[in-house]
Amino acid sequence: MAEKIAFTINGQPRSVEVEPDMMLIDVIRDVLDLTGTKHGCDNATCGTCMVILNGRAVKSCNTVVTKAAGAEITTVEGLAKGMELHPVQTAIAESGAVQCGFCTPGIVIELVAMLNSKPNASEQELTNALNKHLCRCTGYEPIRDGALIAQKVVQERAAEKA
Ligand code: FES
Ligand code: FES
Repeated sequence: MAEKIAFTINGQPRSVEVEPDMMLIDVIRDVLDLTGTKHGCDNATCGTCMVILNGRAVKSCNTVVTKAAGAEITTVEGLAKGMELHPVQTAIAESGAVQCGFCTPGIVIELVAMLNSKPNASEQELTNALNKHLCRCTGYEPIRDGALIAQKVVQERAAEKA
């Protein structure tokens, strides 16, 4: 039987009436029409479906929607401020890490969550986070370069505000 589930997504309060065993990715894409979150493997392997749920990057293909009740969710659509991209988006684009782009939203979300919670993450920690993502196009090096550039920009901006 359908249940009403309320949460905040990209800063907007939303309420959906869905079957409680639905996966979060299907609610995000098919009910809320936020198709930036990509549906790749559907078995928690590829990382394309990542969203930020209460500050943590999670795979929305294996997160049941009831876990989002009352939560704060951010999808890739919620990162830019108007026309201004999030620094992680800019760095990933400028480092040549976007080819077909299918893996990009998940990677960007992963890095944003990591740099929000741990702006001074080590290179190894960034690499470990990126290891959760499959990319068939880039050979991974430009993604790692983009992650390091993004981290520098995030750190510089934090220092300017301090
Ligand atoms: S679609 Fe979720 S990890 Fe691949
Ligand atoms: S850019 Fe094509 S899968 Fe990563």
